[in-house]
Amino acid sequence: MKVLVIGGGGREHALIWKLKQSPRVEKLYCVPGNGGISDEAECLPGDVKSVDSMLEIANRIRPDLTVVGPEVPLIAGIVDEFQKREYPVFGPTKAAAQMEGSKSFAKLFMQRHRIPTGHYAVVTNKAELHSALDHLSAPVVVKADGLAAGKGVVIAKTKEEATTVALEMLSGKMLGEAGLRVVLEEFLEGEELSFLVMSDGERGVPLVAAQDHKRVGDNDTGPNTGGMGAYSSDKIVDPQMREWLLNHVARPVIQGMKTDGMEFKGILYCGLMMTAKGPMVLEFNARFGDPETQAILMRLDSDLVDAFEASVKGRISEGDFKWSPDPAVTVVMASGGYPGSYEAGKKIYGLNEAAKVDGVKIFHAGTTKRDGEYYTAGGRVLNISARAATLPDAVNLAYDAIMKIRFDGMIYRKDIAARGLRATK
Ligand code: AMP
Ligand code: GLY
Repeated sequence: MKVLVIGGGGREHALIWKLKQSPRVEKLYCVPGNGGISDEAECLPGDVKSVDSMLEIANRIRPDLTVVGPEVPLIAGIVDEFQKREYPVFGPTKAAAQMEGSKSFAKLFMQRHRIPTGHYAVVTNKAELHSALDHLSAPVVVKADGLAAGKGVVIAKTKEEATTVALEMLSGKMLGEAGLRVVLEEFLEGEELSFLVMSDGERGVPLVAAQDHKRVGDNDTGPNTGGMGAYSSDKIVDPQMREWLLNHVARPVIQGMKTDGMEFKGILYCGLMMTAKGPMVLEFNARFGDPETQAILMRLDSDLVDAFEASVKGRISEGDFKWSPDPAVTVVMASGGYPGSYEAGKKIYGLNEAAKVDGVKIFHAGTTKRDGEYYTAGGRVLNISARAATLPDAVNLAYDAIMKIRFDGMIYRKDIAARGLRATK
């Protein structure tokens, strides 16, 4: 079959790498792809933010399955448009993708369906803001309602700071339309967890759990990023907690969305805070996480096409996934300056040597390929991923590979999976 993957980051490279292992896949396309993906799939130019552009490509290649990586096309309604034309597509419809596209939608939904999450208020003007702040104590988390590419969440230490940030968002100057509605939320403390569930609209099957590292610096310091690394191991969530999360979070969401007439198919990404009072939902995403997916798919030993098809056709079951007990880790190598401004076009050295490290797979994110050489082309550049019998082994393999790679200004965190390593001691 012909499979089309939409997106061009490390997540999409990992999806392509796994899809390519399926004997059922004859031809892989990716829009727009990147330097590394171009070695494993045919990359086509296109504007992933434009549903028309994606439709035009689908009309040309007639894919038997389309897998959408990023949230923007999902929220723009790519799934609805592909379905109308009978192109099988993996992911939620526009209505269902609101779970990620609007934080107030997600909060109201959770309240209606009794899904554990922090106290909150939705405000649209100064008067509402002031009366909402009377009912919350500092620190207060201020969130833009719409998509803000990782810049829409501010943890304000004082109510004064919360007021300033919220007014800035509401003015439209800070984040445009995404900030015209603001969610204020109780500050929650604990370990963060990424719990991804594949849904067929009726049932949900969990993937192995992962932990992201959102801050740019070691020991979780510095600004938030799209994710600087992740790891996945069976120790992150024990079987009892897994059942709890399925029964109290994932399944109620899938059932609730169905009841509300917005069947949710695809990946329901539950971003959780494991607080002293129990797990609480921080956010939902309507897609695979990046870079969690790179670590998660390193552990998948079954055919990913079968799983996608089961979701699309509405017949998913636990049997669609076979997981390795071996942990996996992925370390992001980024351009100096990220998540702020950075320079691109730097030549990358040592990729071949690094790829020879046993158990290591290098996924490309922001790279391009010219005349057989790879150059940086984005903030997050490479995702060095490794799987091994133990977490310390996987971490060592990933960092061994990193030592062989070099590009001007490269940065990476030295402590990916440190929490997991402490727990194994
Ligand atoms: P979100 O996009 O909602 O996941 O927020 C991005 C990041 O902000 C999360 O990964 C957390 O690290 C942090 N965050 C969001 N909401 C809260 C909260 N209520 N309490 C503490 N930290 C939060
Ligand atoms: N790694 C967090 C996300 O994909 O949203």
